[in-house]
Amino acid sequence: MSSPPMAAKPMKGILLAGGSGTRLHPMTLAASKQLLPVYDKPMVYYPLSTLMLAGIRDIMIISTPADLPQFKRLLGDGSQFGVNFEYRVQESPDGIAQAFLIAGDWLDGCACALALGDNLIFADHLGVMLRAASNRPQGATVFAYQVRDPDRYGVVSFDESGRALEIVEKPEHPTSNWAVTGLYFYDSRVGELAKKVKPSPRGELEITDLNQMYLEEGTLHVDRLGRGCAWLDAGMPDSLMQAGTFVQTIQSRQGMLVGSPEEVAFRMGFINVDQLRKLAERVKKTELGRLLRELADHAVSA
Ligand code: TTP
Repeated sequence: MSSPPMAAKPMKGILLAGGSGTRLHPMTLAASKQLLPVYDKPMVYYPLSTLMLAGIRDIMIISTPADLPQFKRLLGDGSQFGVNFEYRVQESPDGIAQAFLIAGDWLDGCACALALGDNLIFADHLGVMLRAASNRPQGATVFAYQVRDPDRYGVVSFDESGRALEIVEKPEHPTSNWAVTGLYFYDSRVGELAKKVKPSPRGELEITDLNQMYLEEGTLHVDRLGRGCAWLDAGMPDSLMQAGTFVQTIQSRQGMLVGSPEEVAFRMGFINVDQLRKLAERVKKTELGRLLRELADHAVSA
C-alpha cells in the first residue's frame, strides 16, 4: 500500500521594507518610507494585511539596519495578530530578489510570497484571488495592472491568446502598459532559483530576472487585475498622497477598513473576539479603534 502524500509545508511571507526612498527625500532622510502614514495607518500595514489575507502566518520583515528597530517597535512578535514575525537586515539595497538570499535558511524549502512594503492592493474578492495564488502548488504567480507610466515598472507583454510572453524591467519603450505589481507568489524552489540571479547593469538582483526564469520554464501565472482593482505604489509624493486619499475615501464613505491587519487577523480566524477588543483598545481614540470595536460587537451579536 502506498503511504499518504506528505502535507505541504505552509507558505511563508516576506515583507520587504528597506530601500533608500530617494524619491521621497527629504521625508525619508530620517524616517523609513514604509512607516510613513497612508491616511490613518503606517504604510507597511497595507502589504502586511495583504499577506495575512493570503492566509500566511509566518512573515519575515526585512529592512535597513537603521530602520529595522522601528519596525520591531511597531509590530513586535506578531502574536497580537495571531502570526509570527521574524526580522532581518538588508545591509544595502542590492535588489528585491536579494530578499530570498537573506531569508534563505528561514525559508527552509517553503513556498513564499513577497510583498513590497510600499505597495497597496485593493480589490473586490482579493482574498479569494490571493488564496488561489498561495494554494497553487507549482510555479509562480504575479499580478499585472494597467498603468499610464509602465516605464517605471517591470512590464509584461502578452500574445493574442493572453499568454505572457516576456517581462522587461523599466523598459525605455514599453511593449504594453501592464505593470507587474509588488506582490509575488513562488513555489518551494524560490530560494534555490534566487541564487541564480546575477546583478543587473544597475547592480541589483532584479525580481524581474527571477520572474523571467519561471516564465521561461512555462510556470509563471500572470493574473491581470481588472478595472475594479486599485494598485498603488506609494513611493513618490503624488502617489503617497493619492494612496492616502484613496483609503480615506473608502473608509469614510463606506465605513469599511482598508489595510487593517487587526481586521484581517480576526476575519481569518487568527485571533478571537477578545483579542480583537484588545487591539481596538490600543487605538481607542481613533476612528480605526471605533471601527474595530464595531466589528467585535457585530461578531458577538451575530
Ligand atoms: P523602490 O521604490 O524601487 O526603491 P526605493 O524604495 O529604494 O526608493 P527610491 O527609488 O525612491 O530610492 O523599491 C520598491 C520597494 O522595495 C520598496 O518598498 C523598497 C524595497 N526595496 C528593498 O527593501 N530593498 C532593495 O534592495 C530594493 C531595491 C527595494
